[in-house]
Amino acid sequence: MLIRSAPDLKDCDVTDHRLYLRLREFIAAGAALGAGLSAGAAQASPLPHSPNKMPIDEKPTPLKDITSYNNFYEFGTDKGDPAANAGAFRTRPWTVTVDGECAKPGHYGIDDIIKAYPLEERIYRMRCVEAWSMVIPWIGFPLASLIKQAQPNANAKYVAFQTLYDPSQMPGQKDHVLDWPYREGLRLDEALNPLTLLAVGLYGETLPNQDGAPIRLVVPWKYGFKGAKSIVRISFVRSQPKTTWSTMAPSEYGFYANVNPEVDHPRWSQATERRIGEFFRRKTLPFNGYGDQVASLYRGLDPRKLY
Ligand code: MTE
Repeated sequence: MLIRSAPDLKDCDVTDHRLYLRLREFIAAGAALGAGLSAGAAQASPLPHSPNKMPIDEKPTPLKDITSYNNFYEFGTDKGDPAANAGAFRTRPWTVTVDGECAKPGHYGIDDIIKAYPLEERIYRMRCVEAWSMVIPWIGFPLASLIKQAQPNANAKYVAFQTLYDPSQMPGQKDHVLDWPYREGLRLDEALNPLTLLAVGLYGETLPNQDGAPIRLVVPWKYGFKGAKSIVRISFVRSQPKTTWSTMAPSEYGFYANVNPEVDHPRWSQATERRIGEFFRRKTLPFNGYGDQVASLYRGLDPRKLY
């Protein structure tokens, strides 16, 4: 399937590309030598994947920012907490349960999932509802591939995502900052959109723990909180599932959460964003720049309800 890029994204060199290519050479060399980098959970290891099908001329955010400025409340509420507290998080063994309204439910080991679907690189913008953004070179596979294998039935209208609840490993879960476990959801047609990704890596390697290892959701036209990290259950359901932030603060965080510069958050403007690493603010793009591929999903719906 042809994955089209947003209209403003072109083929071009990017500043960080040199570093990135060095990384790739390193990975290729490691693979050629059979260097089995199979160490502990916090150790990144290379992920074989097909090249990027979505060329982008925006500079990927440096790895150190992607891995040190995070929202992952299970490990603390400050941006640096996940990097500081998730080092010992165990991501093996890890099982993802697929269930609900489908013909082929099952329990799947994460390494079987990673082997079952061809991995590809997708460089996507990521826009947090807090008005900062990054450009992230994910490695993953379309959620649609997993959905097709599960064969949802005619009752399946939504997909619900549940993430890990394990306060023994996730210190943030000892406090009631959120209603644990963190939950998210998508309409089935959103989940089937070719842009929607299950990410298992970034910058060519396995996902760092603080970014949602071993598997997380990436929905690039929605605010970042839709991207549930450390997923353990994917369920096909009949009605709109309860999601963490829209339940905690329904007037501030909606179920749809489509990036929209014209609908402000009640406490701040969404018109512009701070791209991590840049001095000047950027204008926020409708649907985060992916409108040509997703706007049709929302025809006839009031955009104010899509916050
Ligand atoms: N997933 C879980 N399980 N817990 C969280 O606290 N935070 C969300 C989302 N997924 C969150 C989560 C928010 S608010 C954002 S902006 C993104 O993860 C941040 O992803 P990043 O830290 O990899 O940039």
